[in-house]
Amino acid sequence: MRRRVVAGNWKMNGTQAEAAALIRGIEQGLGDVRRTEVLVCPPFVLIPIVAEWLGGSRVAWGGQNLSAHKSGAYTGEVSGPMLRDFGCSHVIVGHSERRALYGEDDQTVAEKFRAAQGVGLVPILCVGETLAERESNETERVVARQIDAVVGMVGIGAMDSAIVAYEPVWAIGTGRTATPEQAQAVHAFIRGRLAQTSSTVAERLRILYGGSVKGANARQLFAQPDIDGGLIGGASLDAQEFLGICRAAD
Ligand code: PGA
Repeated sequence: MRRRVVAGNWKMNGTQAEAAALIRGIEQGLGDVRRTEVLVCPPFVLIPIVAEWLGGSRVAWGGQNLSAHKSGAYTGEVSGPMLRDFGCSHVIVGHSERRALYGEDDQTVAEKFRAAQGVGLVPILCVGETLAERESNETERVVARQIDAVVGMVGIGAMDSAIVAYEPVWAIGTGRTATPEQAQAVHAFIRGRLAQTSSTVAERLRILYGGSVKGANARQLFAQPDIDGGLIGGASLDAQEFLGICRAAD
């Protein structure tokens, strides 16, 4: 049985006061969530205070991105060792917003994945197709390409200490969730593709769904056999909504 994961991706949101209220709300309501792994990914500048508040709690924290480099002349970037220094255990890599808005291609994403694992961070590798790609029946080809680029660089064994998030681009922030069946089909495809190389790794891999997950639709999504939790954007900014999703996973 794979342990479920619910990860909040705050994106570029939150003042210190808002973050404090959100963290307090999550911690207070988490008592009845026992089995699920819960984590939040705040913007970089909020990580130190989130780390201070969450130290010793069962909620983990991570970054939303990292540099492929360890240190040096890379103005504006934040490295894996820096995230580790602030207690991060996870980092999102290859989010569709990074791919679409900041030009991250499969090669860059794979390098970031490798950099994350190099310092002991668990990468949450995001994959997913655009609406145009889905409508031209290219979903599997796109997702396979995104996964293969990473496995090609780091090897199948590295997937054992990683998490994958399937996030169809057309479902992110749009209120248009993939149906549980649509999501399940892609999750099963991803697992099956990895199983061609290692059935053990494929069976153990946690594959999260992301894209307009709410308290109201989480249970049906998580009921699918290959959906092991969620990567939550908008709904992770509301403590009660986020807790509802954590309870659905539990
Ligand atoms: P959403 O975002 O839940 O707001 O759709 C998910 C994500 O981008 O990780």
